[in-house]
Amino acid sequence: MENLLILGAGGHGKVVAEAAMLTGRWDDIAFLDNDTTLNRVIGIPVIGSFDTYLDHSKAYSSAVVAIGNNENRFVWLTKLEQAGFKIPVIIHPSSIVSKFSQIESGTVVLAGAVINADASIAKGCILNTSSTIDHDCVIGNGVHVSPGANVSGTVTINDFSWLGVGASIVNNITIGSHVIVAAGAVVISDIPDSVMVAGVPAQIKQSYGDEL
Ligand SMILES: CC(C)(COP(=O)(O)OP(=O)(O)OC[C@H]1O[C@@H](n2cnc3c(N)ncnc32)[C@H](O)[C@@H]1OP(=O)(O)O)[C@@H](O)C(=O)NCCC(=O)NCCS
Repeated sequence: MENLLILGAGGHGKVVAEAAMLTGRWDDIAFLDNDTTLNRVIGIPVIGSFDTYLDHSKAYSSAVVAIGNNENRFVWLTKLEQAGFKIPVIIHPSSIVSKFSQIESGTVVLAGAVINADASIAKGCILNTSSTIDHDCVIGNGVHVSPGANVSGTVTINDFSWLGVGASIVNNITIGSHVIVAAGAVVISDIPDSVMVAGVPAQIKQSYGDEL
């Protein structure tokens, strides 16, 4: 048994922590958060701010990041990895994950999510509550698939993209990096990098250029 540090004690942090508890893999779980008023969250102690992470590396051998922002999550994940923390995959016991799928470190798979055969999920992703990733999908680093979003077979989603709640992606689509797919959108054609798409069918509403 090992101890787990979770960076981020906000709403997403709570959900990740509960999933981690339910796995029974860790003796002790603690949060780090920059809100110094927090003492305990869902019964789990908040033992310092983010930048104290090195002070806890002896007591907590494993760490994950529970920050919603895709880029920030990945920055912190990289720092933890470089500091020698083990970065686990956290899989809620009520999710369904194919034994023929691959999931890299720091990704969290939350309650009711389904990942089907030959799907490949990179580092630091959030596969949120009741989201689905079908067969042969390739999901890049730091992607967030929000609650209830459905990704059909053989879809590629590149790094740091975010699918809003209830979004749907039809099969054989490629979505670029740093894309935002608005809540409820239905994507039926390929999407370039760094745009926001919305609607049914999804259309480009904003382009971020070099901002991201
Ligand atoms: C996509 C999103 C981030 C855009 O937010 P924003 O940058 O503040 O954008 P705006 O509200 O200014 O909207 C820009 C345009 O897109 C449209 N739009 C935004 N979200 C839309 C949606 N979900 N469906 C349809 N159109 C949408 C707006 O109507 C507006 O259109 P217009 O320019 O023709 O008037 C936000 O609307 C959204 O869907 N967030 C998802 C939240 C979510 O899933 N959270 C889960 C957390 S776990």
